[in-house]
Amino acid sequence: MAKALTAAQLLEYDGSDSGKPVYIAVKGTVYDVSAAREFYGKGGPYEAFAGRECARALAIMKVDMAECNDNLSDCTEKQLKTLDDWIAKFNTKYSVVGKLLPEGSKEALEADLALLRPSPFPPSFIATLVVVLFLTLLGGYVLFLDMQGPVPPNAHSEL
Ligand code: HEM
Repeated sequence: MAKALTAAQLLEYDGSDSGKPVYIAVKGTVYDVSAAREFYGKGGPYEAFAGRECARALAIMKVDMAECNDNLSDCTEKQLKTLDDWIAKFNTKYSVVGKLLPEGSKEALEADLALLRPSPFPPSFIATLVVVLFLTLLGGYVLFLDMQGPVPPNAHSEL
């Protein structure tokens, strides 16, 4: 299934953990570049790109983490063509993992919040638990009333 990753989630795949795949994003498309760990993994010549959106860096041909973003506003036609060539190469070489959620978008904020406050229990589990608890209490109460025996018809008339 295609994933939707935030920038923070993408950074988890920057190659620093050898047990995890290495991802890069280009114009919002996330590629699994694990097959080229020697390029993008720790100590590789292009490690700066790993775990990041690197459209700009690829367009202007700079291996510089500071240029890893999606700002193409000042790029020349030639640079945009260079970027398209990179994208064509990645599309044939790597599999697409999914999409990078635009920074500051509603989806990205929600996904990052969910990461900050992880609940071990899904809401459906909590709802079931509440219903079961309620039914148990109700059952107990009915049983209790049953043990008291029938209410005498004149129980209230004595007052
Ligand atoms: C002295 C300059 C450079 C040399 C000699 C060089 C050389 C190479 C070589 C030999 C490869 C492997 C190609 C392959 O096996 O497919 C490669 C890959 C690559 N180069 Fe460079 N490179 C240089 C500069 C740059 C710069 C400035 C960038 C900035 C965007 C860059 C980005 C890349 C990327 C992203 C790959 C990996 C492509 C892939 O995933 O297959 N290179 N480079």
